[in-house]
Amino acid sequence: MKTLGLLLVGLLAISGSFGVDKNNFKSCDQSGFCKRLRAFKPEKSHYIVDFENVMIQDNLLFADVNAVDLESESKTVLFRYVLKISALVDSTFRVEMEEVNPLYPRFATMLALKDTPIADQLKQVSKKDGQLVVANSKGLKVVITADPLKIEFLDKEGEVAVVLNEQSQMLVEPLVQRAKKEEGGDTVEVEEEGQWGENFKSHHDSKPRGNEAISLDVSFPDADQVYGIPEHTDGLALSTTTSGEPYRLYNLDVFEYELDSRMAIYGSIPVLYAHGSKRTVGVFWHNSAETWVDVVNYADGTVVSSLVNLVTGGHKRRVTSRFMSESGLLDTFVMLGDTPADVFRQYTRLTGAAPLPPKFSLAYHQCRWNYVDEADVRGVDENFDLHDIPADVLWLDIEYTDRKKYFTWDAQKFPHPSEMVANLTAKGRKLVVIIDPHIKREAGYFVHEDATDRGYYVKDKDGKDYEGWCWPGSSSYLDFLNPAVSKYYSERFRFENFPGTSKDVHIWNDMNEPSVFNGPEITMPKDCRHYREHEDGAEGLHTFWEHRHIHNEYGLFQIRATHQGMLDRSDGKYRPFILTRSAFSGTQRYAAVWTGDNAAEWGFLAASVPMCLSLALAGLSFCGSDVGGFFKYPEPELMTRWYQAGAYQPFFRAHSHIETKRREPWLYEPATTALLRDANRRRYALLDFWYTLFYEHARDGLPVMRPLWQEYPKEQPTYTIDDTYLLGNQLLVRPVVSAGVSSVQVYLPGAESGTVWYDVDSYQPHKANGYFSQEVNIAKIPVYQRGGTIVPRKERVRRSSALMAHDPYTLVVALDANNTAQGTIYIDDGETYEYKKNKFIYAKITYTSEEIAYSFINEKASFPTKSWVERIVIAGIKTPPKAARLQQAGASVALQMTLHKGNDVLVVRKPGAAMAQPWTISFTY
Ligand SMILES: *[C@@H]1O[C@H](CO)[C@@H](O)[C@H](O)[C@H]1NC(C)=O
Ligand SMILES: *[C@@H]1O[C@H](CO)[C@@H](O)[C@H](O)[C@H]1NC(C)=O
Repeated sequence: MKTLGLLLVGLLAISGSFGVDKNNFKSCDQSGFCKRLRAFKPEKSHYIVDFENVMIQDNLLFADVNAVDLESESKTVLFRYVLKISALVDSTFRVEMEEVNPLYPRFATMLALKDTPIADQLKQVSKKDGQLVVANSKGLKVVITADPLKIEFLDKEGEVAVVLNEQSQMLVEPLVQRAKKEEGGDTVEVEEEGQWGENFKSHHDSKPRGNEAISLDVSFPDADQVYGIPEHTDGLALSTTTSGEPYRLYNLDVFEYELDSRMAIYGSIPVLYAHGSKRTVGVFWHNSAETWVDVVNYADGTVVSSLVNLVTGGHKRRVTSRFMSESGLLDTFVMLGDTPADVFRQYTRLTGAAPLPPKFSLAYHQCRWNYVDEADVRGVDENFDLHDIPADVLWLDIEYTDRKKYFTWDAQKFPHPSEMVANLTAKGRKLVVIIDPHIKREAGYFVHEDATDRGYYVKDKDGKDYEGWCWPGSSSYLDFLNPAVSKYYSERFRFENFPGTSKDVHIWNDMNEPSVFNGPEITMPKDCRHYREHEDGAEGLHTFWEHRHIHNEYGLFQIRATHQGMLDRSDGKYRPFILTRSAFSGTQRYAAVWTGDNAAEWGFLAASVPMCLSLALAGLSFCGSDVGGFFKYPEPELMTRWYQAGAYQPFFRAHSHIETKRREPWLYEPATTALLRDANRRRYALLDFWYTLFYEHARDGLPVMRPLWQEYPKEQPTYTIDDTYLLGNQLLVRPVVSAGVSSVQVYLPGAESGTVWYDVDSYQPHKANGYFSQEVNIAKIPVYQRGGTIVPRKERVRRSSALMAHDPYTLVVALDANNTAQGTIYIDDGETYEYKKNKFIYAKITYTSEEIAYSFINEKASFPTKSWVERIVIAGIKTPPKAARLQQAGASVALQMTLHKGNDVLVVRKPGAAMAQPWTISFTY
């Protein structure tokens, strides 16, 4: 939805200029630990491993590490640590380092990991000359150097792939007690600059635990580029940060966020990937506190060449990175790839893949802040039908509530919510309503009364209910860390507790960074207190976590409770759909994301591609941007290009700010409306393809929307391409994202393997050969199908996806140079969990010049679909067959065929094959 906008407009004169107010947000220098750690550049690391005390057991290595005073002659031990390295399945290692007997336990991030990671084996290979070598069950080696501590991970060729602490920037700040001194007979606490409190603007952070930061440098020999650590607005490939700000990860509601920036915005996913022609590897920094990441790419021209030689020993390529977090444990996962797909899978194996979404959620969504009343909703719904534009979901923003009290309806504007919902669902449509985590502090509001009585709110630094300012005015925030609060929240979604809702009403959790209009950096103060499970008799710091520890996973706690509530309300029968704005590692297990409050400007349309790609690499494939732009009004050309782009992005929703001119598709000139309709129809025609991609994502955890280098990892020019992407490995999409162009440059990968790409509009083949120029009129969306693939389509477009469930398929077969192709298709009821009981079809379709065969991959499963095949289009055929026959269920039928174009597109007309059963079509020549 939105940000501070309305409030600002209410309080201040509108300046007219668009853009972020950077004064509201910290630079690294204004963030105590970032400034402190960035300046920490010792010549030599002061951590030394004591090889006398190493233990290896099952998959674990424990070693004592001493932090020594390098200035002292005898290397006095200042602090003692224990280093833990564990081998996990799927070529992943975990490295943790903690103080021995800390003053109190550090916070361990709670929700990122899907399960306890599965152990592999770890065995010692050698121990000599101050180096200890261990290996996992696949023989992948880890070399630990004692003095100073350095950890190298070797690839399967035995070459160094990842190095920790090579730059000596590993640091675990020891927890210390506040120093006291005698002053005039009293004992007073010593104020050390910044250690026990810091200020930002008018806000004071009391830092009751003092400094507790951690840092680690991670080097990637041979890497060309690094990617990941969303959410930011600069390119997909990360840039060198030496002469500017590091990338920041701190979930924030940034009003009018800017492009090409490393500033933090709504989501923070601390996973980084390094890629080059040799290998792809990754590190997952398992930490939910504020984090900054520096990157140095020695090949990108901004690093002085003398330094390049010094650091890389003459190697051309190398990227180094450094993670710095304010608190939490030093706990990092090293994923050794070695292909892009391997490393993306390794990450989703740790944090989970998105489960199969309900099918409607992949269709078109219509939103606005706000559809003002029931008549407005009815009008928008009817206009989609009047104008023959398919749509699945209408959305209600905050104004549907009784004065921003969530789980209530405005009784004047929405007196009959159940009937309104029933009217939508009669056409197969759904409703999504917004539910934010702030709670209006109003006497008589049941959520507020319950939360107050039961102590369910986040507390301030003194232990009182924290009060901030958000949409409802004075608000407090539910403390989802308390299991009783999450349970209470989940129960609010029961149909009887939220009248007017049904299984067809889904949820939008917005403002969950959390957004606090009057808080530091528009969020919650870091010294606010959260629930912590503790023993009776525990005191002080042992009885709560601070907001600083959990900040980046606050929203994840909320959507987890929402998700549970939506499951419970239907006794686990229906799949929930949730949209969230804030995101952390693991968010993909519960919700889709969008890129927040963008603007109707070409730059934001262009940015939607790398932003969603970056989120997809970090596990969040279900991503989109506000189509048309949230702030400002899109002129017809921009609106058209945005619909065309959105139709090929996973989450496809139009949205707009309350103060902008209405812009539903029929409100433009008929010529523009026709183009918007065409974009939506293209989406609906491919809905089964999208659904199959998401089913496969749920199984393999690979990005749905993927960069070209995922499939063509050795093709160097693809490493920095972020305006073009693949859907699965089948379609290549190059949306038009600039004004007034008559052609775009499209990079077609796969020249070396003789790949052919077919324009999906004309079936014209293009041999892959790097860049080519594609002409684009206003109706053209450059999309290409890879030769060797089969894509299912449904061409009879109706009002909603539900009404198309049993429609027939068109199969588009695009042949490769060997005259073969294959594809998959997934079919089920679209909304329940019956697929877990084998009520689905997951089938493969293979084409050779002799036959096309449709067979079930999972032979135990079946689904009684009434769909059948109405057309098969075969593009790139060299020798057309003379005859074709369908064999299904013992019957054999002769089929009609037509040749098109320069006789290289063959259409098999009305095969009539039922999709509920396997079939074969054989060709004779
Ligand atoms: C539901 O649809 C009927 C028939 O079009 C209409 O009369 C009624 O007002 C609608 N109800 C709501 C709440 O929109
Ligand atoms: C064609 O088949 C050969 C032999 O199986 C294979 O090596 C080659 O990669 C294939 N070409 C394409 C374009 O798939």
